[in-house]
Amino acid sequence: MGTRSKPILPDNAPSAAEIARVPAEQRSGDASLAARQRASRADARSESEALVRPQATLFGRRRGKRLTARHDGLMQTALPEVALDASRPIAPAALFPQGVCELWLEIGFGGGEHLAALAKAHPHVGYIGCEPFRNGVAKALASIEAEKLRNVRLYEGDARAIIEALPEAALQGVYLLYPDPWPKRRQRKRRFLSDALLSRLARVMRPGAELRFATDIDDNAGWTLARLLRSPHFIWAPETASDWQDPWRGWPGTRYEAKALREGRKPAYFTFRRNQAPVAQAPNGMESSDRPESGSDSKA
Ligand SMILES: C[S@@+](CC[C@H](N)C(=O)[O-])C[C@H]1O[C@@H](n2cnc3c(N)ncnc32)[C@H](O)[C@@H]1O
Repeated sequence: MGTRSKPILPDNAPSAAEIARVPAEQRSGDASLAARQRASRADARSESEALVRPQATLFGRRRGKRLTARHDGLMQTALPEVALDASRPIAPAALFPQGVCELWLEIGFGGGEHLAALAKAHPHVGYIGCEPFRNGVAKALASIEAEKLRNVRLYEGDARAIIEALPEAALQGVYLLYPDPWPKRRQRKRRFLSDALLSRLARVMRPGAELRFATDIDDNAGWTLARLLRSPHFIWAPETASDWQDPWRGWPGTRYEAKALREGRKPAYFTFRRNQAPVAQAPNGMESSDRPESGSDSKA
């Protein structure tokens, strides 16, 4: 991949000082710094609330246009065949009767185009896709049927419930592609990769597993990068300065990415790797009663 050089960070990426939360900043009596620290503490509070309070919804709408008769039929007949139940522990070995060599999770697959393309290209890998938007789930079912995919399982709901239902070190990889950016400060608690959620995700990822994150929103790139860089469970080790500008090998793209490119926004692609650091049991004190609701229609 060429010589390793200093990575160039996206616009709005946090400064090294912000990432490390340098003591000098913490000691400063400067009013604007104090305000930023207060805001940052508020962000941290709301981020952990978003994890432990089931009513802290991270996603937008669950339903769009009325489903076509075909899609409605697929929801009735095909979904039960591939649907995961997040209300009880998931046993990865029992998910695919044919056996798979790896298990990957895609969080917020939209219409499932990326999920289906990967499942088709890698039939020996198992994929779990989570998406609360019903119309997207119906589309993914249509692709699963058209391509006769046997290596995909779906969850119509909040990916946090699946993360809680998986056993430790179950996953070799996770995709989070163009998550909702939630641009306003008061909305940031709805961004998916909070500090607390990263710990929960780390629990189900085995050492060396990849977390692949793409976004076309600079502010979201910087915000997420800051959390990954201060996480004790992940490393970011770009091989070249342009690593984050290039998509992954065999990248089929996503529907949302195509829209971003049409509208002139340049995506960033980050690969983080799970390190060996153990995850403390339930670091946020999350009890089963606090888990995000499972079940498909609970927040419709
Ligand atoms: C901007 S869209 C991107 C869709 C797709 N990844 C793409 O690139 O075309 C973000 C998607 O994430 C889904 N989403 C948001 N919060 C989620 C959550 N907590 N669990 C699973 N999916 C979620 C939304 O319903 C939406 O479909």
